[in-house]
Amino acid sequence: MAMAGHGCGRRLAAALCLVVAAANVASARFVVEKNSVKVLSPRSLRGRHEAAIANYGVPDYGGTLTGVVMYPADAKLANGCKPFGKTEFRSRSRRPVVLLVDRGGCYFALKTWHAQLAGAAAVLVADSADEPLLTMDSPEEETPDMAFLSNITVPSALVRKPFGDALRAAASKEGGDEVVVRLDWRESMPHPDERVEYEFWTNSNDECGPRCDEQAAFVGAFRGHAQLLEKGGYALFTPHYITWFCPEAFLETKQCKAQCINRGRYCAPDPEGDLGAGYDGRDVVLENLRQLCVHRVANARNASWLWWDYVADYHLRCSMTGNHYTRRCAEDVAKSLGECAVVAGLPFFRSASSSSSPRRR
Ligand SMILES: *[C@@H]1O[C@H](CO)[C@@H](O)[C@H](O)[C@H]1NC(C)=O
Ligand SMILES: *[C@@H]1O[C@H](CO)[C@@H](O)[C@H](O)[C@H]1NC(C)=O
Repeated sequence: MAMAGHGCGRRLAAALCLVVAAANVASARFVVEKNSVKVLSPRSLRGRHEAAIANYGVPDYGGTLTGVVMYPADAKLANGCKPFGKTEFRSRSRRPVVLLVDRGGCYFALKTWHAQLAGAAAVLVADSADEPLLTMDSPEEETPDMAFLSNITVPSALVRKPFGDALRAAASKEGGDEVVVRLDWRESMPHPDERVEYEFWTNSNDECGPRCDEQAAFVGAFRGHAQLLEKGGYALFTPHYITWFCPEAFLETKQCKAQCINRGRYCAPDPEGDLGAGYDGRDVVLENLRQLCVHRVANARNASWLWWDYVADYHLRCSMTGNHYTRRCAEDVAKSLGECAVVAGLPFFRSASSSSSPRRR
């Protein structure tokens, strides 16, 4: 999960803006998630291939599925865009059917839906162009005719054209052997430890408009779930704070002095966009640091879930509009977290705040 704070808006001093734009691009790269497809027979096709897991349906993460590749005999149905009607795909050996369909003509998800209705246990889409693997996405519309989306329960994956062509040829060969494949999702999990790791990009600024309000609402609504997952050891989350820096040439400007700490090393845009009024960017950086510190200390004491309490309470009690966005208020919140916080070593803010003075390391 990634939630970003501001975009590169008018509110930012131009000098700071450039930097975050570059950072966002670097962190927003999309990763094509893959599983493997191993051909077990016929012998001539044996080998292991990569496939791109679709963004819809239910991959059997951590598991495998062995089935027989079948390809629609009727050319008009080969792309899976029309329902297969009364056809029920069945393999001679009674193994699950992995239906191969051609790319093109309609949404990927619709092909999968039709295949599922016709008895397929999984779907492989053969790419029509010889290109690197891409992720098959679900349609964005939430129109009534897309209602099937949430009913898709089988996994789907895209295979590259050469492999798709070979599978199609083998599966359509009259009197040929069954084409048996094993779909494997065991390596699709980066850390197979039965614990979900996720990251949350955030910002303590509460005056940036709808974006900040949305974040605060999310923290409030997700807090209970996040804490249960964290306490039960099912999840491990890491908060990140979006940080700007001041390019060397601007170090002496009013903008950088008001918005940065550590000689321009860590900055945040002015919360209300007016350097002369209200809080400055550096106030936001300092509170971001305190929140990071809460996470770090709590996490080290096996109480990472305290971050959610701290952040939600800080938002309620220490708003910028109420003029309470201060270290003092932060310390009160940390204290009120009670016995658990004391055991976890909170409050402790001295070291975080003093980082505004020059340091060598
Ligand atoms: C999806 O499943 C629900 C619940 O089983 C069912 O009521 C609904 O009709 C299904 N929708 C489609 C398009 O099959
Ligand atoms: C952390 O706390 C949880 C529950 O409170 C416990 O089950 C787990 O063993 C603890 N882990 C460590 C490393 O202390």
